[in-house]
Amino acid sequence: MLIRNATLLLEGKAARKDILIQGGKIKSMGHFRGKGIDATGLFALPGIIDAHVHLREPGATQKEDFRTGTRAALSGGVTTVLDMPNTSPPTTTLARLREKRALASKKAACDYGFHFGAGEDNFEEVKKAKPGSMKVYMGKTTGDLFLPDEKLIFRHFMNFPREKPVVVHAEDQAIIDAEGRTPLAAQVAVAKAAMLARRASRRMCIAHASTPREIELAKKWEKSLVETCPHYLFLNEKDAEGLGCFGKVYPPLRSERERRGMWAALGSIDYLSTDHAPHLPEEKEGGAAGFPGLGVSLPLMLDAYSRNLVGMDWIISRMCENPARIFNIRGKGRIAPGFQADIVLVDLRREWKVRADGMESRCRWSPYEGRVLRGSVEKAIFRGELAYERGSGIICETKGKEVMAR
Ligand code: NCD
Ligand code: ZN
Repeated sequence: MLIRNATLLLEGKAARKDILIQGGKIKSMGHFRGKGIDATGLFALPGIIDAHVHLREPGATQKEDFRTGTRAALSGGVTTVLDMPNTSPPTTTLARLREKRALASKKAACDYGFHFGAGEDNFEEVKKAKPGSMKVYMGKTTGDLFLPDEKLIFRHFMNFPREKPVVVHAEDQAIIDAEGRTPLAAQVAVAKAAMLARRASRRMCIAHASTPREIELAKKWEKSLVETCPHYLFLNEKDAEGLGCFGKVYPPLRSERERRGMWAALGSIDYLSTDHAPHLPEEKEGGAAGFPGLGVSLPLMLDAYSRNLVGMDWIISRMCENPARIFNIRGKGRIAPGFQADIVLVDLRREWKVRADGMESRCRWSPYEGRVLRGSVEKAIFRGELAYERGSGIICETKGKEVMAR
């Protein structure tokens, strides 16, 4: 297998190369003879790793399942997804983790991993299940996972191996109860989480940071890592108003000032995930919180690149290399010899209009509906095979495997 004449970033410089693939892995980059996928005029990036997605299985497959969610991923150049534990039932026991593994192994079209839920009393289960990552909820959100006090959070921080990541949904429930999901609710929770992580001397990831102050507060502890999502970069509270019930997401969209501040703080953000949280339109009308994001995250960033808002090196580090490193996903996140041949070919000049009804996700709406983006996903190569092509859709399926060191 050969990808011919792709442009890629090598040691910070754009270069034209063929990519030779053998046994699902990148063998070398150079100039080779032979037939292959023609990537003339296309830019090659490592397959995107999305560390925060809700694939809704088991319990809410009307919204999404492992098949539709991973197909939506591929269509956006995402070749690895890490699924969240707030399903029903939540992923808080070894048996439930095994149940998810069985479902995903049959249905996933790209690679996947699982975050394990921190429950009020599942410390022994965590030891038994040995998950690759844990999720702690400091505020209530979709599903029942929630830790009501700091003692429990700290116990989980101490109980879970230091070399593995703990991801925190940082919105403080007491402040939510008092004044709603304000910036303060997020900032207080982040400050608490950072102090507890420092006391436990452990690595900790702040999920979906929505204001620059959260980033600052998180970074008061040197082992904090910060995630944000495209919607905190591209949408603000005015957009939320315009979207009506479709504009509801946790944490909420913030002011234009905060949104701009997130761009100014780009250098301190460690990784970008979608928080793909699909709900059906009728469920949104009933008050469900969350945005779908798979399928548009990379094009949104490519559009920003075309407007000189972000560099290609940032996109590759925050969407590929860093999530691989942070979540202990070996052999992924780079285009380099020996790495898994997950490669996305994009057209940096092509303009297209976001249309949810052409997308793979089951939820059939998008907060970006109608937006024109410059930069499109043309092909996704997964484990060395052409898995998605614009115009043809998903080409091969049910090939995903579990990643993330256990
Ligand atoms: C998420 C969901 O629906 O699962 N919703 C959201 O608004 N982000 C839950 C979450 O990540 O908090
Ligand atoms: Zn989420």
